[in-house]
Amino acid sequence: MKTQREHFGSGTAAVMAMAGSAIGLGNIWRFPYMVGENGGAAFIVVYMLSMVFISIPIFLCEAVIGRHTQMGTIGSVEKLGLGRGSKWMAALTVISPLIILSYYSVVGGWSVAFLVKGVVSGFGVGAGEYFGSFTSSVWGPLLCHTVFLLLTAGIVFGGVKSGIERFNKISLPALFVLIIAIATYSITLPGAGEGVRYLLVPDFSKLEGKTVLSAMGQSFFSLSLGVGTILTYASYMKKGDSILRTGAGTAVFDLLFALIAGFAVMPAVFASGIEPGSGPTLIYETLPHVFAGLSGSLPTVSRVVSIAFFLAIVVAALTSSVSMLEVGVAYLVEQRGMTRTKAVAVIVLSTWALGCLCSLSGRIFSACDHLVSNYLMTFGALLFTFIAGWKMKKSIVQDELACGPMFKVVYFMMRFIAPAMIVVIFVTNLII
Ligand code: PHE
Repeated sequence: MKTQREHFGSGTAAVMAMAGSAIGLGNIWRFPYMVGENGGAAFIVVYMLSMVFISIPIFLCEAVIGRHTQMGTIGSVEKLGLGRGSKWMAALTVISPLIILSYYSVVGGWSVAFLVKGVVSGFGVGAGEYFGSFTSSVWGPLLCHTVFLLLTAGIVFGGVKSGIERFNKISLPALFVLIIAIATYSITLPGAGEGVRYLLVPDFSKLEGKTVLSAMGQSFFSLSLGVGTILTYASYMKKGDSILRTGAGTAVFDLLFALIAGFAVMPAVFASGIEPGSGPTLIYETLPHVFAGLSGSLPTVSRVVSIAFFLAIVVAALTSSVSMLEVGVAYLVEQRGMTRTKAVAVIVLSTWALGCLCSLSGRIFSACDHLVSNYLMTFGALLFTFIAGWKMKKSIVQDELACGPMFKVVYFMMRFIAPAMIVVIFVTNLII
């Protein structure tokens, strides 16, 4: 069953693919509304701390496992000779990205619809209501979910190098250009100043226990952790490429993008007088309103910005959705000997079915998001720290990380700090 394993062409290509996976709806859709729900700048501070002390060490654990074994999640557990329990846990990490992909693709589909609407007719008066009437209809969202999944499948079908790597290399720079342009527009809107202050001046009295869990969950989601994506992508890294540089590069790009997206969204939210804590529908209900030219900017300018914004969301979502699909595809190809085409078809069909349910029922949608981001990702992350920190030989981890004298600190964070923090935050939240 041994076929030649594909690899990313260079270290830079690996960073771009991982950053592509990390940068997605999590940054443009989830991050701004989480910030809005959790009190602004104080949440961002906790988020950054969580990134450094918990998420980056977990990223390194996943990457060390994948690069060392050169296999996907279940293949890694088998190759490392870890018993059945771990195998079940690894199976979870194959199922989790499937669940995420199903509701992610629904949101990706909404963005496709908004993009098309922006191009075809723009957002006129009543733009704020467009979201409600669109998502409560049956066929439109289902069709867009299908289109989004087919786009994802098309890229993954092309393989690691000519599909995933090529798409990310073009998309990532384009995404940064787009989001910087939109943020510039947004902060110059009349009344935007309050939104900028909201993002920059922390009010720690707004912090609650739940905020810390949300910040941790968001940093896992944003760095694509705990579901085997980073592990699988790392298995396509060549031996000489630095894992530490890849981890740091991915985290920096991801954080930068989320912050710039915050500056693209929040000032516009404040400029249009909308409540920042209005939840998952925030960007879809707010921004069309702004883009309709109701906030004093020229209609043509706002039309172009609206198209740029939803284009950025669709592309960012695609660079992430391909990474979710790849986890399952790698498993079916490696462990089940399927062809790539068949593997893509099998996973896309099952995801499509679950995604249809998410599209039709808000409760199923929220249940999937809740299950994945609060439980499955956390368990997955713990599993990876356990494997890299406690089950793999220290010398192998040291060899993979190749970071000289820094190893001691990094290894300590991977082995003790990150898992301990996950357990403490998780248990505290169960109790309080
Ligand atoms: N990190 C992606 C985002 O921010 C979401 C994602 C989660 C991707 C898990 C892959 C795996 O949108």
